[in-house]
Amino acid sequence: MGNIVWYIVCLLGILCHQLCQAEDGSQLWLRYARVTASEAAFRKIHCPYRDAVASTAAAELQDYWRRGDVDLQLDKKWPKWQPDGYRIRSLGSKTVISAGNSTGLLYGAFHLLRLQQQGAAMQGLDISEKPSYALRMLNHWDNLDGTVERGYAGHSLWKWEELPGVISPRYREYARANASIGINAVVLNNVNASPLILRADYLEKVKTLADIFRPYGIRVFLSINFSAPALLGNLPDSDPLRPVVAGWWKDKADEIYRLIPDFGGFLVKANSEGQPGPQDYGRTHADGANMLAAALRPHRGLVLWRAFVYNPTAEDRAKQAYQEFVPLDGQFDDNVILQIKNGPIDFQPREPFNPLFGAMPKTSQMVEFQITQEYLGFSNHLVYLAPLFKETLDAQTYSRSEAGTVAGITQRGPHLVSAIAGVANIGEDRNWCGHHFAQANWYAFGRLAWNTGLSSNSLAREWLSMTFSPDPALVNPLSELMVESREAVVNYMMPLGLHHIFAFEHHYGPEPWGDIPGGRPDWMPWYYHNADLLGIGFDRTATGSNAVAQYRSPLREQFGQIGSCPEQYLLWFHHVPWKHRMKNGRSLWDNLCYAYQQGVDQVRGFQRQWDSLEGKMDTQRFQEVQSKLKIQARDAVWWRDACLLYFQTFSKMPIPAALERPV
Ligand code: GCU
Repeated sequence: MGNIVWYIVCLLGILCHQLCQAEDGSQLWLRYARVTASEAAFRKIHCPYRDAVASTAAAELQDYWRRGDVDLQLDKKWPKWQPDGYRIRSLGSKTVISAGNSTGLLYGAFHLLRLQQQGAAMQGLDISEKPSYALRMLNHWDNLDGTVERGYAGHSLWKWEELPGVISPRYREYARANASIGINAVVLNNVNASPLILRADYLEKVKTLADIFRPYGIRVFLSINFSAPALLGNLPDSDPLRPVVAGWWKDKADEIYRLIPDFGGFLVKANSEGQPGPQDYGRTHADGANMLAAALRPHRGLVLWRAFVYNPTAEDRAKQAYQEFVPLDGQFDDNVILQIKNGPIDFQPREPFNPLFGAMPKTSQMVEFQITQEYLGFSNHLVYLAPLFKETLDAQTYSRSEAGTVAGITQRGPHLVSAIAGVANIGEDRNWCGHHFAQANWYAFGRLAWNTGLSSNSLAREWLSMTFSPDPALVNPLSELMVESREAVVNYMMPLGLHHIFAFEHHYGPEPWGDIPGGRPDWMPWYYHNADLLGIGFDRTATGSNAVAQYRSPLREQFGQIGSCPEQYLLWFHHVPWKHRMKNGRSLWDNLCYAYQQGVDQVRGFQRQWDSLEGKMDTQRFQEVQSKLKIQARDAVWWRDACLLYFQTFSKMPIPAALERPV
């Protein structure tokens, strides 16, 4: 008997050891080791507060901080307009974290642990931080059947069929990871929303998740289906101006807040891609949003109303959201925020910023980014997105004399609450995101939502040193590789302003020739590239759709002239002759060929760089990333060959002799 017990203990020991050693990416960037009992005996964590969030902060430090005493202090004089901010100071041998609220203490604790993990010096600390946005949100496009729209990391984390009875340990791990980077709000379900999420049994499940997330400072929001009053409440319709409909929403909001007192509000995709909305009843977006806003107002809830609307009309898709929403400026209630995709089409590898930003001075606006790589090689391609996020946030709209960047407009407008959202790339894969480097995009989104001023490079370095190793021999080359990776994907997929030439519906590979007779033109690649015997590109100047006019001066003039349009947007705004001379003296056609080839070369360079790092990290992650880079290199060649061979049928020009022949 004794032998059997001993055997089981040994077996468990080995299993546990193996699990602890597993380098499957499941720990994300949170790789600090738990303190031992003797280490803990040498330092004190002092936290006089008992609320759930402060207790989480104290527990994190208790478990992982090994560098002396820490005091957590709430400061009654902390400015009210800086919630969640904190200050970290060294006072003698002790470190003090002070903040205006408990979430500030939590973020301060994670900041300290981040410094420890990176091996930073801890003497003489005096750090003050405050977030760029009040709401730093993830949007999950998770369906109630467990699938994830545009998700490439397995099924949904949320086990709706098991909730509320069974609690996956990953709920808490997810909340902790978010809190560690400052994310404080999550929309649990897909914008193409099932009305069922609002049914009483689902709300119990939502409440369970909200209860788990709350100690991490995270509030829950839901996407709603605008037809819920009819579909769920059996009303004859869902016309927002009918009192019985408004009353249904009010009762529903009251029901939700009884369960979840800090519920955040509703995210709404209305009259977009077949979803129902106020226009079904001849009402405006403002009518619909304000009706919901009234239901949420007594509870201080918000409506996040999406501006992603377009229809298959004769009008350029890129212009439609602006046309629809700008006339409504000033009509939205103050607890409505317009949630706007970063570009005017749809999360392409590169788009100019959406001209709606700054065009509605009386309306609160927020940016929606896509962290999941729908148009960027899914979870097969290493594409670090911080440079893409920064490109939009830093873009100058010229709509105000100061603070006219997209970041400025979304932080300081008529907002009750400022906000930013990213469509999550998280699923139940062991490494959460499908590709080890896709974790960096979750990380960078959260950190940029906290501070839009951080640089892509510093964030890459921070993430690498926490996730892999602080060894400069690894951090230096890989941070450069990461920052270059976004430009590489633009080169091998859609250089010079090309966009939306993806294969139909799944959006993985190239299909510039794609056409479905009778299909929606605005879903066909030719609609966007317009290649013909004369040239290629979408004429969005006055001779074409005139979308340039939606940008303010001097941008509309700059974008509107071939000579002054930045070449990275050239084919976005212009239909350009194949023989057009580019700035480097080559023809447009040759430039296109060189750009595609450069993208391929860049990925091959990434492979060489990665291979040279063998031995500098664990074998498992080394090999897994190596395999994914092989796929990426294969796909880059596929993109190059498919696009060039197809466009060559129009240009009738040869591939420059110095370049590889398409195969
Ligand atoms: C894209 C995406 C859809 C998604 C939509 C949206 O079009 O392909 O899956 O529903 O964006 O943002 O609403």
